Amino acid sequence: MTVLVTGGCGYIGAHVVHALHEAGEEVIVIDDLSYGKPTRIEGSRLYGADISAPGSDKIIAQILEEHQVDAVIHFAARKQVGESVAKPLWYYQQNVNGMLNVLQGMADAGVKKLVFSSSAATYGVPPVDVVPEDVVPMVPINPYGQTKLFGEWMARACEQAFGIRFCALRYFNVAGCGPVELEDPAILNLIPMLFDRLKQGKAPAIFGDDYPTPDGTCVRDYIHVSDLADAHIAAIKYLGNDEREYDAFNVGTGEGTSVRQIVDEVKKVTGLPFTEEIRERRAGDPPHLIGSPKRINEAMGWHAKYGVEDIVRSGWEAWQANPEHHIDVENWKQTD
Ligand SMILES: NC(=O)c1ccc[n+]([C@@H]2O[C@H](COP(=O)([O-])OP(=O)(O)OC[C@H]3O[C@@H](n4cnc5c(N)ncnc54)[C@H](O)[C@@H]3O)[C@@H](O)[C@H]2O)c1
Repeated sequence: MTVLVTGGCGYIGAHVVHALHEAGEEVIVIDDLSYGKPTRIEGSRLYGADISAPGSDKIIAQILEEHQVDAVIHFAARKQVGESVAKPLWYYQQNVNGMLNVLQGMADAGVKKLVFSSSAATYGVPPVDVVPEDVVPMVPINPYGQTKLFGEWMARACEQAFGIRFCALRYFNVAGCGPVELEDPAILNLIPMLFDRLKQGKAPAIFGDDYPTPDGTCVRDYIHVSDLADAHIAAIKYLGNDEREYDAFNVGTGEGTSVRQIVDEVKKVTGLPFTEEIRERRAGDPPHLIGSPKRINEAMGWHAKYGVEDIVRSGWEAWQANPEHHIDVENWKQTD
């Protein structure tokens, strides 16, 4: 099978490219390299293109036809919630136009299988602690989450109009690392933010310890990026099933881990004797956000294999392997 991966040079995309190679599949990547690194996908053909630009649908259709692609996995998108609030129109332009061009290119080339990177951000602040896919209402609270929900609607409409079978995978908190060279150097999520404070000799921060949760800190569902990569392989197989019932799936563990528990795990894994500081709550953080994995477990037979300790340990190993991030553990001191 030949698979086109948009955004394949990014953090999650590169883990999926790696998993596809391990499964013996041929991979073609389109990436504008705005965040991605080509060194992450050695062995795959790379096309450098911005999929949101006018006319990209034609480029995508041409690549799909030339390589006789069987399925597309669409990652290429902007993903920072805060940035999406500051630059909403750019997020719509990038993420919605990108999706549009992928779907148009697939319709023109007659490619019928699509796996789409969606997000728990589509749920906004859900009315339940453990969220099933069919929870109502689904009201994303930022432009990023809105573009992901639009993407699902667009793909659903194209399933009806052009027979494109699609699966939206709604990722929860993706973290950890497979091979260290696939590390995500961005400091955007909790675990890299904790490591980054330690790198600076500063106290890692916990935003709010008075939430209605067992230890007062926010609870999230952490999913190892290698488990997430396997979910994409399972999703492509599922799209071959004529009896398939669903098109949207949570990729989570169903288990909640608090910020405090992650901080304790970081202490254990790094061995660094730090003291964290408690700060004010941040606006818009729901107390709980956990995804029920029941549907993906039953429909695709996919189950997460890794736990929080594996996530923190693999993230730390990748952090330490990067010379720009590396922390000298022997001589480390908290200065602030
Ligand atoms: N990382 C997470 O926690 C998370 C959670 C939920 C959903 N997602 C979604 O998963 C996908 C991948 O996320 P990631 O963490 O790997 O991000 P990333 O930024 O590491 O990877 C995105 C890749 O897409 C490329 N790209 C971006 N816009 C492009 C465009 N217009 N044309 C061509 N290439 C473009 C970038 O260069 C990069 O290589 C995104 O769609 C993101 O919204 C990520």
